[in-house]
Amino acid sequence: MTTPDTPTDPAAPYRITREPYYRPVGNEVELFTAAHARRMPVMLKGPTGCGKTRFVEAMAHKLGRPLITVACNEDMTASDLVGRFLLDRDGTRWQDGPLTTAARLGAICYLDEVVEARQDTVVVIHPLTDHRRVLPLDKKGELLHADPGFQLVISYNPGYQSLMKDLKPSTRQRFAALAFDYPEAEVEAEIIARETGCPRDTADKLVQIAHRARNLRGHGLDEGISTRLLVYAGQMIAEGVNPTLACTMTLVTPLTDDPDMHETLTSAVSTFFTDP
Ligand SMILES: Nc1ncnc2c1ncn2[C@@H]1O[C@H](COP(=O)(O)OP(=O)(O)O)[C@@H](O)[C@H]1O
Ligand SMILES: [Mg+2]
Repeated sequence: MTTPDTPTDPAAPYRITREPYYRPVGNEVELFTAAHARRMPVMLKGPTGCGKTRFVEAMAHKLGRPLITVACNEDMTASDLVGRFLLDRDGTRWQDGPLTTAARLGAICYLDEVVEARQDTVVVIHPLTDHRRVLPLDKKGELLHADPGFQLVISYNPGYQSLMKDLKPSTRQRFAALAFDYPEAEVEAEIIARETGCPRDTADKLVQIAHRARNLRGHGLDEGISTRLLVYAGQMIAEGVNPTLACTMTLVTPLTDDPDMHETLTSAVSTFFTDP
């Protein structure tokens, strides 16, 4: 039972209590740590499913910061980030949005796939990225000064770049950037074996299948097989599913709707896994 004088940590829901497994692939941990020390806004660039989210979770844990993640989408408004007045029985009540909560609590605020958000939504982060580190809550008439712990992190998949969806230079230039990609073969296989419990030689084969598919990027495939999908494949195999079926379900069918490409990927799978 909680007594009235029990201090409760408002950041408790956002704390990462168990250490996430993150296998560094370069010097990203050191670089992010230095950027965090100066509370520099950081952009994580890279294809989907290559470890960006896991990295932020691991860094938040390592740095002892709460983490508030927002999955951006085109319907998102500035109020969804900042907050709004709600009507209840007693009248109106202000409710902080996730960006405001993060600024108050001194959390890392992770805006995932920021290009999905409309530009008039994204601009609300600008005052938090300059030296004043403020967030104007216009509707509420409050100028919030971010807690010293607050840091802004965004993720961005350059593969989806288009004229319609790109970061404005005025947004882009407010962030330092770390480039992510699928890890090199040895490291990726290590990650898959560790994440899924599948045998290492199976993980090696999965990675080789992925390399074949990644070579088809721009030749009929928009994106290659991600580390995330390889993890799914390893999990199915570790559950005792026949590897060919596991690969069809996790590496082939999700990636393409085109029958010819399906066939191409299926033959890549059959090079490494033969049906019993
Ligand atoms: N360096 C890594 N260390 C540990 N796991 C990783 C790493 N890279 C990728 N993964 C695995 O791949 C999955 C997808 O990564 P995620 O961080 O969700 O991708 P992204 O956010 O880039 O789309 C993770 O859940 C994890 O299982
Ligand atoms: Mg992610």
